Amino acid sequence: MTEAKRIAAEKAIEYVQDGMIVGVGTGSTVAYFIDALAQIKDKIAGTVSSSENSTAKLRAHGIDVLDLNETGPLSLYVDGADECDPNKCLIKGGGGALTREKIIAEASETYVCIIDPSKRVDVLGKFPLPIEVIPMARSLVTRELTKLGGEPILRDFTTDNGNIILDVHGLQISDPVGLEREINAIPGVVTVGLFARRPADIVIEGSEPIQVW
Ligand code: A5P
Repeated sequence: MTEAKRIAAEKAIEYVQDGMIVGVGTGSTVAYFIDALAQIKDKIAGTVSSSENSTAKLRAHGIDVLDLNETGPLSLYVDGADECDPNKCLIKGGGGALTREKIIAEASETYVCIIDPSKRVDVLGKFPLPIEVIPMARSLVTRELTKLGGEPILRDFTTDNGNIILDVHGLQISDPVGLEREINAIPGVVTVGLFARRPADIVIEGSEPIQVW
């Protein structure tokens, strides 16, 4: 899948226009996008990054990383996903960066999602759904998620925001928008890794031949 990720990431460069501030996601596909962005770094006005990891990669290439509070709305966000359904609804957070990713996606006019073919599914939920949770709410949120029919497992990980991640196994997500709303309403949940209320706008799948939809 490495080649498919690279192909999708390089195609996304076509959406970058002169003088843009580009929102940059997190993950192995985005790592290829950052490498490609470095080739045209003099053309852009900077980036907003969704994780400490991506920030380090961007800065290593000499690309400016700006504060979203200073930039205002963005024209373009490029990020990967863990699963993508036919409506471009996504599961994200496999890399633990879901909260900052969701903030930047919301602030962006166009979200270009770059994936390899293994990410495409008819129904979301085979990939365990990541949920960022305030540490003191761990057991409360675990109980509530179990009532929804999932099996939450604590990830051995601390987010960039100092919180925990519960990965919820066993969900068949037939109503992604409804489930996103329901999980968001549980006190202690910071972010659910369902991107359904604000899905991707364009998906680039690095298959052979490449698919853009
Ligand atoms: C990061 O938290 C995730 O949302 C990533 O977008 C996702 O895990 C990307 O997957 P790849 O590493 O396969 O690009």
